[in-house]
Amino acid sequence: MSRLFIYYSHTGNGDIVAETLSKQGYELRKVIPKRDLPKSFVASIFKGGFLAGIGHKSKLVGYDSDVSAYDEVIIGTPVWNGKVSCPVNTVLDETDLTGKKLAFVLYSGGGSAPKAVKKLKEKYNCLILELREPLKNPDELNKLGQL
Ligand SMILES: Cc1cc2nc3c(=O)[nH]c(=O)nc-3n(C[C@H](O)[C@H](O)[C@H](O)COP(=O)(O)O)c2cc1C
Repeated sequence: MSRLFIYYSHTGNGDIVAETLSKQGYELRKVIPKRDLPKSFVASIFKGGFLAGIGHKSKLVGYDSDVSAYDEVIIGTPVWNGKVSCPVNTVLDETDLTGKKLAFVLYSGGGSAPKAVKKLKEKYNCLILELREPLKNPDELNKLGQL
């Protein structure tokens, strides 16, 4: 079965998830926004938090939305302001996930994002895993075994 992990990562938590899933046989597709968050931590929280709050979709650099070659697609996003990150809003908007075995991996500071989970559940009937800062807490990666 062909499996793909599409994800965004600003500070590396998504990358460690990707590394782990790659070892489990997933191909990787990391999305790159045209404009990244500001370098300053505080400014990045304000800007990213505000934009995620209004459901903004980032422009992406050369995103390939064709997933027709895959049976299973996992989508990974950091939680921003309790919501899906802006680059992944674009992925969800542009990718036809019909008929795919689908799951989400959310990584966040608190490890729980009820607003994001509720919104995703309304649209997609699938498994949603929530990880608390897997870079700092590698045990969290064991949850990926549920996929
Ligand atoms: C703009 C912004 C907003 C964030 N908002 C939240 C939040 O609402 N709740 C939370 O638990 N963590 C929040 N975080 C922390 C990230 O979700 C967390 O560090 C995540 O693991 C980052 O993934 P990454 O390293 O792959 O970018 C926020 C981080 C940023 C940059």
